[in-house]
Amino acid sequence: MEFRPTLSIDRLISELNALAQVSEADPPVVTRVLFSDADLRARAYIKGLCLKASLEVHEDAIGNTFARWQGSEPGLAPVATGSHIDAIPNAGKYDGVVGVLGGLEVIRALQRCGARPKHSIELLLFTSEEPTRFGIGCLGSRLLSGTMTPDAARKLIDKDGVSLEEVRRKAGYSAPLEEVKLPGGYYKAFVELHIEQGPLLEQQKLPLGIVTSIAAPASLRFSIEGAGGHAGAVLMPERRDALCAAAELVLAIENAAKSSGAIDTVATVGICEVFPGAVNSIPSRVRLTLDLRDTSLARRDAAMRAIETARQTIVAERQVSISEELVNADAPAQCAPEIVEALSQACAKHNLASMKMVSRAYHDSLFMSRIAPVAMLFIPCRNGYSHRPDEYASPEDIARGALVLAETLASLAS
Ligand code: GLV
Ligand code: MN
Ligand code: MN
Repeated sequence: MEFRPTLSIDRLISELNALAQVSEADPPVVTRVLFSDADLRARAYIKGLCLKASLEVHEDAIGNTFARWQGSEPGLAPVATGSHIDAIPNAGKYDGVVGVLGGLEVIRALQRCGARPKHSIELLLFTSEEPTRFGIGCLGSRLLSGTMTPDAARKLIDKDGVSLEEVRRKAGYSAPLEEVKLPGGYYKAFVELHIEQGPLLEQQKLPLGIVTSIAAPASLRFSIEGAGGHAGAVLMPERRDALCAAAELVLAIENAAKSSGAIDTVATVGICEVFPGAVNSIPSRVRLTLDLRDTSLARRDAAMRAIETARQTIVAERQVSISEELVNADAPAQCAPEIVEALSQACAKHNLASMKMVSRAYHDSLFMSRIAPVAMLFIPCRNGYSHRPDEYASPEDIARGALVLAETLASLAS
């Protein structure tokens, strides 16, 4: 398909700014947790834009949203793009959103070119890429790809004790979760545009990154039980302080990542809940949540084993109990060489320099790779900042990403 895409970047940026106003927190903070009022209003905003662009919109039982521009040969597998619009607490306005609104603008630009591609082009908005509400990321793409079973999803409960089943029905999604999974081969290709969320492109002064693989994420919850008591009356030799044991575990986790032998192992304990949480009471129970990632599955699993050894030592030395629950341990994804090549050619056609890179963040592409050939296109973000309100990607960088995405989708769908 021969085309000259004319992207309306001003409109894209104004839509991005408008979506950033739909938040549970005051600007510039963006917080949109799954099925919150803000998430539902943001979804309605995107669906409205898709309908305005004459796309065929439908949603599945978990709220994944599909907006299709029908190709001239509707029997062919569609080419898909998209990302997510949910945002962790205290986030910015670009993570995920650039891939959704950018993908939409790309489809509109291709529509304006006049020539209809053979393959349909479909925009996807995935439900809950962020793990905030149910503790597990990429809920929509996990179910869609069959990586998570409907039974496992039905067991999910949020911190207020409300089940996923309950909240999704309340949000208007009541079909059986069994209907969410798509068969392998359903899509010809999936390409996700995203901010890098790290500093490499900016440091290398490069406008674009072509992702060749996505790191392997894992998450574990630890529950540490010690003995509570009066902060003044219980003397130190008598104590079984759960928080002190947790502190040792956190440091052991840091050490497991630092001593893995590669810079690619990263471990974070981002949640620490202390019970009862009173200044004059010895902590009797602590809950920790660990996020552990690596580009190598073997190394990630070796770090998990090192953490397990540390757990056993701490239990023995501190006379506490530490139970653990594996939330997820996913394999890494390799991007499809033919899509990486299509992205490279699109960059070359427009004289845009790029580098091949690994995605250290996870994305819905990680799970889409289980059912379709995928690749990702990264644009720089200022200082590499992400998951914070001062996250920023320039209109120029967004425009370059959208242009290469347009070229790539047109070539894959032709
Ligand atoms: C996605 O948001 C991630 O944490 O990598
Ligand atoms: Mn994110
Ligand atoms: Mn994201």
